[in-house]
Amino acid sequence: MPAPAVLFSEEQIQSRVADLGRAIAHDYAGRSPVLVTMLKGAVVFLADLFRAIDLPVRVDFMSISSYGSDSEASGGVVRILKDLDQDIGREDVIVVEDIIDTGLTISYLLATLRARQPASLEVCALLDKTVRRILPVEIKYRGFECPDRFVVGYGLDHGERYRNLPLIVAVDDQTALTDDPDLLAPLLAARDAEKVEKTGGRTPS
Ligand code: IMP
Ligand code: MG
Repeated sequence: MPAPAVLFSEEQIQSRVADLGRAIAHDYAGRSPVLVTMLKGAVVFLADLFRAIDLPVRVDFMSISSYGSDSEASGGVVRILKDLDQDIGREDVIVVEDIIDTGLTISYLLATLRARQPASLEVCALLDKTVRRILPVEIKYRGFECPDRFVVGYGLDHGERYRNLPLIVAVDDQTALTDDPDLLAPLLAARDAEKVEKTGGRTPS
């Protein structure tokens, strides 16, 4: 089992998110899209993404939960825990997701949103685990192709932890992560050391 490894660095993520923001601003010029964000994983991505979109975008949030242990076990049928505050009828909607895995959750969600008759409906996902796809999903704005590994950081969690890591780490042994919550500490320490080296210990200005 490979050791935990940094999959996407802070710099890689920031630069890719800026690209996505520019692409959205270009495609939606003159319009005011609503970024429908899935709680909780996608909020970190949203915070960076919507500051990179030079348009009067709006945000709204939705929280869903799978019946059963995960989306595969539930066949993708999800329960809405928190619905949108605003009606999306005739709006340009972009669904913001952290990761599309089997595609079951997003497919269910898109069907639900489509029924509300938005003017347009697209998906922006930071990570795309294509190898695990069960239902096809058209992802108009995609950050990175993600290998078939369990990832945490930048919004993605393992048992609600690690969402606040500014980078994305692959952890193949999830049991090890449960048993030892400090498993990633050496990786993060190494990254901090590298930062000190780069900046000579000074805070970058
Ligand atoms: P899907 O219905 O299988 O596409 O499920 C997507 C959801 O599963 C995401 O929104 C995440 O909450 C979760 N998920 C899938 N892969 C990972 C991972 O590698 N790390 C953390 N969460 C994941
Ligand atoms: Mg999620």
